[in-house]
Amino acid sequence: MILHRSFDTSNGHLTIDGLDAVELAKEFGTPAIFISEDAVRGMCRMYRDAFSKYFGEGASPIYAGKALCFKRLYEIMAEENMKADCVSSGELATANAAGFPMENAFFHGNNKTDFDLEYAVKLGVGHIVVDSFDELMALDEIAESVGVCQKILLRITPGIDPHTHKKIMTGNVDSKFGSAIVTGDAERIVRLALELEHVKLCGFHCHVGSQIFDIDPFRDAADIMLKFVRDMQEKCGYTAEILNLGGGFGVRYTEDDPEIDYEENIRLLAEEINGMCEKLGINRPHIHMEPGRSIVAAAGATLYTCGSVKELEGFRNYVSVDGGMTDNPRYTLYQSQYTFINASRASEEDDFECTIAGRCCESGDLLGEGVKIARPERGDIIAVLVTGAYNYSMASNYNRIPRPPVVMISDGKPYVAVRRESFDDLMKLEN
Ligand code: LLP
Repeated sequence: MILHRSFDTSNGHLTIDGLDAVELAKEFGTPAIFISEDAVRGMCRMYRDAFSKYFGEGASPIYAGKALCFKRLYEIMAEENMKADCVSSGELATANAAGFPMENAFFHGNNKTDFDLEYAVKLGVGHIVVDSFDELMALDEIAESVGVCQKILLRITPGIDPHTHKKIMTGNVDSKFGSAIVTGDAERIVRLALELEHVKLCGFHCHVGSQIFDIDPFRDAADIMLKFVRDMQEKCGYTAEILNLGGGFGVRYTEDDPEIDYEENIRLLAEEINGMCEKLGINRPHIHMEPGRSIVAAAGATLYTCGSVKELEGFRNYVSVDGGMTDNPRYTLYQSQYTFINASRASEEDDFECTIAGRCCESGDLLGEGVKIARPERGDIIAVLVTGAYNYSMASNYNRIPRPPVVMISDGKPYVAVRRESFDDLMKLEN
């Protein structure tokens, strides 16, 4: 087993959910993204069970679809009784087309247009997470014109830097998201929301960051947000029903990343939150969180075919594959590290140090550097593990490269959830 129970190399081949990666590549072509449906469902159940066990009634994990978004995934989320965080009208449309119950959707975004707001209100989206004064006023008018009272949360900026665990109050005021507590905007927007007739304030939302490995930033955010809940109770007579602490639980991409016990983190966080509520003398609001990456990342693997192997004496070795930044831009954007395996030679020594390059006409189109895999030959299948999150959802058609298919594996059976793009698809918008 490597990194996650979906992947195994113990019988000499890489297997994904027990299926031979080389055979999968033959059947579905490359590049292709494989997602273990069982692993996704397992994470949803873990989150749901841990939330109800530790945060009690009304608590809810909300799947952040920005990590991976297509209709089949929303069907699975609906079956798993998950709520959904949608961040654009496009994500809402996808969820709706999948039959996802829109009352279980939360609509995010720092600049929702009037079209977005009207679309969401008319779809019957459960909660709109309002980001700014302008948006609040616009939404109130739109809700009036549609003839509804729209439930909302307010996005609040608590001022936390998740990577230093410091509360950099002034630093985080400089953000395009939300209303900051420290400037007084948060209180002002609460007062405004309480005055408006066509919105119903249900609570607060914050998000401190992504790929977070311990609970400290969440605890710090909860501490600030619960004090804000108490202050709003005292100053405005308003009691928040929901406190949404956002997404961000980390994922193990390589053996150098720590192993994460999500359930234990949730238990510890709940313990802290219960203690804080007691100290502040407030009832615990319904706790929501929005995991995206941690639900889908480890369920995914991408298979490529090795093309050229170029050995540059005194420099480095390049292994080029038939995908790259168009299906996984995360190394190019963030130097994100991944685990690579030569799936065709999984029992051979990983002693060939190389740079894995994509096929775009761009030197920066790399998937990893200093990677060690069994020496590949043209035609070998190269696997990248833990690609379920922010790969397909960030894919592009740069250089007119069609996007890969998404193949789900359920109970040992693969099926195509999203087919490979064709050249006709690439030109379908053109007159
Ligand atoms: N909720 C809100 C309001 C968010 O902004 C995000 C992520 C999430 C939930 C989900 O966070 P997660 O559990 O997935 O960490 N493209 C970047 C990640 C950007 C995340 C943006 N917001 C990457 O590839 O690493």
